[in-house]
Amino acid sequence: MPLPKLQQIPAEIAALADYERFARERLSEQAWAYLAGGAADELTLADNRAAFDRLRLRSRVLRDLSGGNTRLRLFGQDFDHPIFLAPVAYQKLAHPDGELASVLAAGAVRAGMLVSTQASVELETIAAAAQTPLWFQLYIQPDRDFTAALVRRAEAAGYQALVLTVDAPVSGVRNREQRAGFALPAGVEAVNLRGMRPLQASIEPPAGSLLLGGPLLAAAPTWADLAWLRGLTRLPILLKGIMSGADAEQALAAGMDGLIVSNHGGRSLDGLPATIEALPEVAAAVQKQVPLLLDGGIRRGSDVLKALALGADGVLVGRPYVFGLAAAGAVGVAHVLQMLRGELEVAMALTGCRDLASIGAETIWRPA
Ligand code: FNR
Ligand code: LAC
Repeated sequence: MPLPKLQQIPAEIAALADYERFARERLSEQAWAYLAGGAADELTLADNRAAFDRLRLRSRVLRDLSGGNTRLRLFGQDFDHPIFLAPVAYQKLAHPDGELASVLAAGAVRAGMLVSTQASVELETIAAAAQTPLWFQLYIQPDRDFTAALVRRAEAAGYQALVLTVDAPVSGVRNREQRAGFALPAGVEAVNLRGMRPLQASIEPPAGSLLLGGPLLAAAPTWADLAWLRGLTRLPILLKGIMSGADAEQALAAGMDGLIVSNHGGRSLDGLPATIEALPEVAAAVQKQVPLLLDGGIRRGSDVLKALALGADGVLVGRPYVFGLAAAGAVGVAHVLQMLRGELEVAMALTGCRDLASIGAETIWRPA
């Protein structure tokens, strides 16, 4: 599948947000509710954006920017820029090529990609098409043997890190999906979970609980599972969904190799703060001991700069590339990433930052 030319993109798509309208036109109401929506009243979803918009930058002029670049090295892997594709489930909902279009685009713009456990394409097929490092996003399943086999499959396929998502042991309250009557259409499924032993859902929660004492949460991973996971693989392990300094410290004590500040794009617990507001507390706990990434609400290159200024080493984008995918397949995904990279470099130039190491707390405007 060769990548068609970016010139096919209409000129009116000048920024990430411009893809939303085109994506919405091409998607069913149900798919849109799933892909675009957040949990409950979508307060956290809105806050992820609003909190970036409140921050202002400090310009620095006349600095020597020659030889500047956005290069980054994480876990011994080289990246041209600090923008990654977040793990997003069921990408065939957005486009028939699904994750295959996204991985093609990632290769074209040299972005790292995180592949969801709930991808709609086999993890091996995605890996075979990859030209940039892939990390595997893991949901620990009630069936631990199946989970271990999944980890071995990811290793064998060449994935270079494991990203354990810890903020969604139960699905959030997805009212937008409920109102739209969302269900996976035929032909879209979590193909990598085929053959898994189903949860013993017949076990009734004890009196005094609807969910808490039930089988789903009894089988949910805990800190104790991290030692098990550590023993299964030599890949670096990151935890995704860390929003507090206390959890960051516990993760480091458990030997985790990296953390991702995330509230699941506002899809898990509505009422969590914006990720950019949680970042300073987590960064203070991490003290640069391990790589720290952030996602949630990144829509501009200046948002990437803000996240790096407040302590992130890199960022993930979710919905924007899925909207690009829905509107224009691999070309749309590549275009989204290319616009974001371009804007980041403009923002770096105008704040006098010639490389990622030059970006710091002073890059954020704080009135004297
Ligand atoms: C997600 N996200 C997600 N995260 C994860 O760890 N595993 C997954 O399978 C999914 N699936 C998923 C589906 C859809 C449709 C969305 C929008 C998101 C969360 C994702 O990785 C990321 O944290 C957020 O999307 C980041 O926020 P933005 O960039 O969408 O604002
Ligand atoms: C979601 C799950 C799949 O956010 O992580 O929809």
